[in-house]
Amino acid sequence: MGAYAELHRRSLSDPEGFWGEAAAAIDWFEPWERVLDDRNPPFYRWFSGGVLNTCHNALDRHVAAGRGDQAALVYDSPVTETIQRYTYAQMTDAVARLAGGLRGLGVAKGDRVIIYMPMIPQAAMAMLACARLGAIHSVVFGGFAAHELATRIDDAKPKAILSASCGIEPNRVVPYKPMLDQAIDQATHKPDACVVFQRAQAEAAMTAGRDHDWDDLMSRSDPVDCVPVAATDPLYILYTSGTTGQPKGIVRDNGGHAVALRWTMRNIYNVEPGEAYWSASDVGWVVGHSYIIYAPLLTGCTTIMYEGKPVGTPDAGAFWRVIAEHGVSTMFTAPTALRAIKREDPEGRLIGQYDLSHFRAQFLAGERSDPDTVRWAEEKLGVPVIDHWWQTETGWAIAGNPLGIELHPVKPGSTALAMPGWDVRALNPEGASVQPGDVGALVCKLPLPPGTLPTLWNAEDRYRQAYLAEFPGFYKTGDAGFIDEDGYVHVMTRVDDVINVAGHRLSTGAIEEVLAAHADVAECAVIGVADQLKGQLPVGFVVLKAGVRRSYDEIGAELVGMVRGQIGPVAAFKTALVVDRLPKTRSGKILRGTMQKIADGQEFKMPATIDDPVILNEIQEVLHEAGMANPEHVAAS
Ligand code: COA
Ligand code: AMP
Repeated sequence: MGAYAELHRRSLSDPEGFWGEAAAAIDWFEPWERVLDDRNPPFYRWFSGGVLNTCHNALDRHVAAGRGDQAALVYDSPVTETIQRYTYAQMTDAVARLAGGLRGLGVAKGDRVIIYMPMIPQAAMAMLACARLGAIHSVVFGGFAAHELATRIDDAKPKAILSASCGIEPNRVVPYKPMLDQAIDQATHKPDACVVFQRAQAEAAMTAGRDHDWDDLMSRSDPVDCVPVAATDPLYILYTSGTTGQPKGIVRDNGGHAVALRWTMRNIYNVEPGEAYWSASDVGWVVGHSYIIYAPLLTGCTTIMYEGKPVGTPDAGAFWRVIAEHGVSTMFTAPTALRAIKREDPEGRLIGQYDLSHFRAQFLAGERSDPDTVRWAEEKLGVPVIDHWWQTETGWAIAGNPLGIELHPVKPGSTALAMPGWDVRALNPEGASVQPGDVGALVCKLPLPPGTLPTLWNAEDRYRQAYLAEFPGFYKTGDAGFIDEDGYVHVMTRVDDVINVAGHRLSTGAIEEVLAAHADVAECAVIGVADQLKGQLPVGFVVLKAGVRRSYDEIGAELVGMVRGQIGPVAAFKTALVVDRLPKTRSGKILRGTMQKIADGQEFKMPATIDDPVILNEIQEVLHEAGMANPEHVAAS
């Protein structure tokens, strides 16, 4: 049996032994009583009774062990032409002082703190300062607009909000503070305090009595020590799109999270303490939480915080420059980013301009990797290009190619093998395993390994319903796919109304809620249409109320503006098409799946329950006029 197979087998047959050993890589103030607490299935907890602090493990202990002068974080910002290095000693000091400032504002263990910040070092400091105090951070991605932020404020009920005056996109400065003010106005819950980091590109107006200047707060605060927390206490809440406009608050604990992430750095990514590791993502996403902040710092690596894009800042060689300049051994990004680079530099000429001799592996996740892009990257970079599959809920990879254990052959289009801790199955609707190669619902047998979501914030019933109810004894991932004869997992599509736009997870239901609020719209449907760069793009279909005579272009532009204003630019919602009717089943369910197949030019079966098949022709025509559907494809039967 190979090393991977042996580890995988042991992780499932003896999870307590396996993860108990992995936990030795973490500093504990008090040891756990049980590695796996299975007294209350289907709820499982890891390392119950254990006491630790995640910030201590990410910063202080490395300083104590002699890494004080090593760079903990390198901020590389082509959009501001800045490169700054923070050693472990400097990060620890800054975080301890910020934590002192937050304590002075009344933030204590268990309080929630929302962080709405761009990709600047202060965002990392904010997360770690919360962890230091045992406060629960909830980072909201900067590309979300005020309404999305307000929803999260009302759900998390933060004591304080940490923000910056602006974010910087290549084509514009994005003022954050007006959106923060608007969100607080809209929300029912009001934070006691806001702390705002002023950036030179846009000065934020401050609200007296509520808002505090970041630098002032730092200069008048004393550093504080790490607060011991239970392994099972929440470290953070990260909201992610579900099937409705109400996002799900994924809860992450402290103990299991630290153990699992530290384990992945060596075993999945093959990265050792002292090495430079880079995830080109954003702190607003789970990849940013796990692999910009926590895993590299828990390991004693140098993490890169990149404020820029794969192309245009200034060119398609930006990623290779960062790898060369900071000695990155391993990087992680979304396939979209590589597609953007490949589009601008198909021959990979810019790659050749940089010394990538220390670069060992390129990891990809966030959306399906198309085989062409994987092969292109393999050929041009000359290193393994490893697709791995995970979700906000899981916090780390369900399936991948465990480079640190042994590299298995790469099959482009597959996310390779179930990682240790994961028992992945493809099931039919009755809950039985399908044959190898047949598509089914991808599920994972309970208990899930450490570091995965124990529940949803304030929504235990929703947690049960969304993930555990359909296949008792299993966690439902919401993805469909197949497992082949070699045990390789192939993730094909979502089974719900979640779409993936440039590696960003969006809810079509949330976009529909915005469209439906337009005064002229009677009903609507949003689908994700295949896009060569971003994987998918949302397209809206609206039926207007009887008697509306306004121009379709005008209404379309208003709808696009509403989605941008309420969800945010990151939704990339650019197309709203007016149709006379929506295709439905006789019971009134909108046939979104069939519409999507038409838009993607795939063959589809005429649904047996369709109310009026003629409507599909109209959808096809409207899409065709908008340059989206392939008229060659018609219903297969
Ligand atoms: N704050 C404010 N606005 C933001 C933002 C942020 N943090 N991030 C993105 N936006 C805006 C962009 O400016 C853009 O606005 P526009 O419509 O005015 O141009 C919109 O949201 C869409 O952004 P993006 O998805 O970045 O598309 P793009 O066309 O600007 O760039 C890519 C295309 C491929 C370069 C880009 O999508 C990319 O880098 N993808 C990789 C994604 C990734 O790393 N995902 C993380 C998951 S691992
Ligand atoms: P998020 O929670 O935003 O990370 O999105 C998770 C979803 O992205 C998964 O449920 C999948 O639908 C998709 N996804 C993530 N990684 C992959 C991958 N490697 N291959 C295919 N789909 C992926």
